[in-house]
Amino acid sequence: MTPWLRRTPGPTHPRIEFGADYNPEQWTPDVWASDVALMREAGVTVATVGVFSWARLQPAPDRWEFGWLDEVLDLLHEGGIAVDLATATASPPPWMHHRHPEILPVDADGRTVGPGGRQHWRPTSPVFRRYALDLVRAMAHRYGEHPALAAWHVSNELGCHNVEDHSPDARIAFRDWLRERHGGDLDALNRAWGTSFWSQHHGDWEEIRTPGRVPAGTHPNPGQQLDFARFCSDALREHLRAEVAVLRELTPDVPVTTNFMVMNETRGMDYATWVPEIDIVSNDHYVVPGPHARDELSFSANLTGNLAGGAPWWLMEHSTSAVSWQEINRPKRPGEMHRDALTHLAHGADAICYFQWRQSAAGAEKFHSAMVPHTGPDSRMFRDVVALGDRLRGLAEVAGSRRVPARVAVLFDWPSWWAAEQPFTPSDRVRYKDEAAGWYRAFLDAGVRADVVPAGAELAGAALAGYDIVVAPMLHVVGPERAAELAAFVDAGGHLVTTWWSGIVDDHAHAVLGGYPGALRELLGIRVEEFAPLEPGGTVTLDDGSVADVWTEPVDVVDPSVEVLVRYTGGGTAVAAADLAGSPAVTRRPVGRGSASYVSTRLADRGPLLRRLLDAAGIVPELPGELAGRVELVRREGFRFLVNRGDAPVDLAPLGGIEALAGLRSDVLPGRGVTVLPDR
Ligand code: GLA
Repeated sequence: MTPWLRRTPGPTHPRIEFGADYNPEQWTPDVWASDVALMREAGVTVATVGVFSWARLQPAPDRWEFGWLDEVLDLLHEGGIAVDLATATASPPPWMHHRHPEILPVDADGRTVGPGGRQHWRPTSPVFRRYALDLVRAMAHRYGEHPALAAWHVSNELGCHNVEDHSPDARIAFRDWLRERHGGDLDALNRAWGTSFWSQHHGDWEEIRTPGRVPAGTHPNPGQQLDFARFCSDALREHLRAEVAVLRELTPDVPVTTNFMVMNETRGMDYATWVPEIDIVSNDHYVVPGPHARDELSFSANLTGNLAGGAPWWLMEHSTSAVSWQEINRPKRPGEMHRDALTHLAHGADAICYFQWRQSAAGAEKFHSAMVPHTGPDSRMFRDVVALGDRLRGLAEVAGSRRVPARVAVLFDWPSWWAAEQPFTPSDRVRYKDEAAGWYRAFLDAGVRADVVPAGAELAGAALAGYDIVVAPMLHVVGPERAAELAAFVDAGGHLVTTWWSGIVDDHAHAVLGGYPGALRELLGIRVEEFAPLEPGGTVTLDDGSVADVWTEPVDVVDPSVEVLVRYTGGGTAVAAADLAGSPAVTRRPVGRGSASYVSTRLADRGPLLRRLLDAAGIVPELPGELAGRVELVRREGFRFLVNRGDAPVDLAPLGGIEALAGLRSDVLPGRGVTVLPDR
C-alpha cells in the first residue's frame, strides 16, 4: 500500500485532500495570516510550500534564512493545514549561475540556455547537484520534525524545461550511461546504433556526442536518438534519486513525491521507470483546449492512476481557470472546474490541488488563474472554490478506495512514442499520442471502461494478464521480451489489437527483418512489404463503410487461419487509393480462445470496428445504452462516477434513481456535470 500523507497526531478520518501551491514569498506577512483564514474557509487541507523559495532560503552561498519559512509553516499548522514541503531545488538563485555559469544547460544548437526563467540547470551538473543536495539536507534538518510536514515534494516538474541538455556534463554522463547500457563494450554500441551506416563507427568512447545539430537535410543516428531519449529521462530520474536518498536517510517516516506531467504532448520522461523511486505518485495536468480536451484529461488521469498501480494518487496541480502559457488562454466555462477536479478524483486522485493559491501580482505568471484571484475573495472564483471544497468534504468516504480494473487496456509506451516520431520515417504525420488517445476515446464513445496501462519494464507483463482485450496502438518498439509477453497474453486467451507502425523496430531502433509488422508478424499471421502513407488530406474507404487517412499498408495474409475483417475498397480521395482495392485492412488471427488483430490504417472512426472486437470478446457496456458514450463511467471500489462528456444535460432515469452521494444529482447530469453513486 502506498504510504499516504504523514498525518500529525489526531483523528485520521478519511478525507480528500484539497489545496494548492502556496508561494508566500510573493506576499508580505500580513497577507499570510489572511491566507490561512481563507484557506480554512475554502476547506483547504494541504499546501505545497517552497517550490520556488531557494533564493529566499539561501540568499548567498554561505547565508541561510529560514525564519520566514518557520513562520509560514507554524501559521499553516496552527490553521490545521498540512504542508507538502518542496525541497526548493527547482529554480536556483541568481548567485549560482553568476558564480557557476557551468550549471547552465546547452541546447541542440550548442547555445547556452540563459538564466532568468526557471529550471536553468543541467540535470547532470555535479556542481548543481552538490548545491541542490546541500539545500535538501538543510530542509530535512530544519523541518523533518515540524508537525505540519506531511510529505516531501522533490524539485518541481522535473524535465519541464531542461529535459534535453547537450552540455559537456551531459556528454560525459551520456557516455557513462552508454557504457553501462552496452556492457562497457564499444563494439556492442556500434552494433546497436548501426554505425556502419554513413561512416559513423566509433573507435573511442570519447568520440561519442549527444545528438545535437547535424548538417541540414540529415538527422542523427536513430539508435543514438533513442538511447539519448532514454538517457535524458534517466538523468532526471538520477537527480530525483539523489534528492530522495537524502530525504530517506534523514526523515525516513515522511513520504516522498515528485510531480509528474502526464498530460498532452509532454513526453520526455518515461514515468513508468520513475514510479519505484517515490512513495506517492502525483501529477500535474493542464487542459489544452481542443475538440477532445476533456477526454485527454480522462486519458491522463487514467494513465496516472495506473502508474500508481490502482492506488490513490495526488493531483498536485491543475488550474481553477485560464493558464498563461498558451497562445490564447481562455477561462474555464461554468462547471468545468468542478468537472475537471472530480474526473481526476474518479480516476483515483485522493488529493485535488491547484497551481496556485493566490494569483501572483508580479512575475511571469501573473495572469494565470488561482484559487484566490486578483479580484480577491469576493469573487465568483473564490465562491466556486469554496463550493468545491465543500463537495470534496462530502465525498470523504471515497478516500482510500482503489480503482476498479477494467476488462480492457490501452497500452502506453514512452519509448514507442519517442521512436515512432523520429525523423526520416515514411510519414511526418505520425502522432503516437493521437493514436493512443484515439483508441481510448473510442472506448469512451462505446461506453466501455478501459485502463490506460503503462508498458514500462517494471510494470507491464503481469499487468496485462488481468485483461480480456489489450489494444497496443502504434507499439513501435518491440524487443524480444515485449513480443514474448504479448504472445503469452494471446496464448492465455487474451485478445490483442495492434495497429499500423507497430512492432517495426527492436530496442535499438533496428528494423525487424522479414517483413512488417516485424516482431509481431508471426503473432498476427500477416506480412507487409511496403508502407503506403497518404498525402495530406488524402483518404481511403473501407468495405465496412469507414474512412481512414494518414497511413495505409497492403497486407498479405500468411497464416491461413487469419480472417480478414475489413478490406480496402479502392475508393477515397488519396492519389493511390485504387491500388489497395480488395487488400486486407483489418485482420484477426484466432489463437485458442484468444486472438491477435491488426489495423493497418488510421481509422477516422474506430467505433464500428471496436464494437465487433468487443462483441467477439463478450464485453458489453456497464451503462444502459441511453447513457453509453454520452457519459464516462469510472469506478473506484464502492463508488461509480458518472461524468457528462458534453455540454447538454443527460437524463439519468435509466439508472433507476439510485441516490447520489454528497447531495449530487441522480436524476439529471447537468452539462459538464459529475455525480457519484454507491457501487454495491
Ligand atoms: C507548472 C508549474 C507551476 C506553474 C504552472 C502554470 O505546472 O509547476 O509552477 O508554472 O505550470 O500552469
